[in-house]
Amino acid sequence: MKKIIIAIDGHSSTGKSTLAKQLAEHLDYIYIDSGAMYRAVTLYAIENGFISSDGFDKIRLIQSLSGLHIAFKKDSSNNVALFLNGQLVSSKIRTMEVSNMVSQVAALPEVRKCLVKEQRLMGLNKGLVMDGRDIGTVVFPDAELKIFMTASAKTRALRRFDELSNGDASIDYKTVYENIIFRDKKDSSRKNSPLLKAKDARVLDNSKLDQQAQFKLVLSWVNECKKETP
Ligand code: CDP
Repeated sequence: MKKIIIAIDGHSSTGKSTLAKQLAEHLDYIYIDSGAMYRAVTLYAIENGFISSDGFDKIRLIQSLSGLHIAFKKDSSNNVALFLNGQLVSSKIRTMEVSNMVSQVAALPEVRKCLVKEQRLMGLNKGLVMDGRDIGTVVFPDAELKIFMTASAKTRALRRFDELSNGDASIDYKTVYENIIFRDKKDSSRKNSPLLKAKDARVLDNSKLDQQAQFKLVLSWVNECKKETP
């Protein structure tokens, strides 16, 4: 059966990665979390002192982009791990420090150009599920299936809070909620590749949809798109 590209975009904490991973596993496709790539660049900027209490040295980050190598590899439990210049960074990219800076890093056209180029190479052989903010609009405008995920800000903040606070008393709900609102605004209003629903994307509002029902619905979309693909 013909392989397709599935582009999943949407607001922060709508469960894009969970759905994308489920689909990739079910279809035996490659899964790429494009947000993790922007997070890795942000971590790189922090670790190299381009982002500090003195501010954000965008020029130095842009000049260093050619020395940055991001790779996804499966670990022994079949989980996809992210490596930044050979160092495992899957957990380090999820901290609030990275979350607070990532939208500013992702707004730089030079950063986007560099990552979009890598992302397109990953789709050359199809059989790919990629999630992010501009996958259906910029990275793969011809993707056979485009999904735009959304849910209320409160539902999303509660989900992210549960995920982050697991045993960590320093995380509070208000901070998580504010970060979600801040990133929504920043991602939707930026000049370069703003978060937009592609005209031909199917909207998936999962505020009131459980994971099983969601997966069943999306699989029916996948099957429709596969049938339409010559
Ligand atoms: O935390 P969440 O899963 O919602 O976000 P993410 O997918 O890890 O992405 C982190 C940030 O990277 C987003 O808030 C965007 O600013 C940026 N991003 C982007 O600009 N374009 C993408 N294709 C993916 C992420």
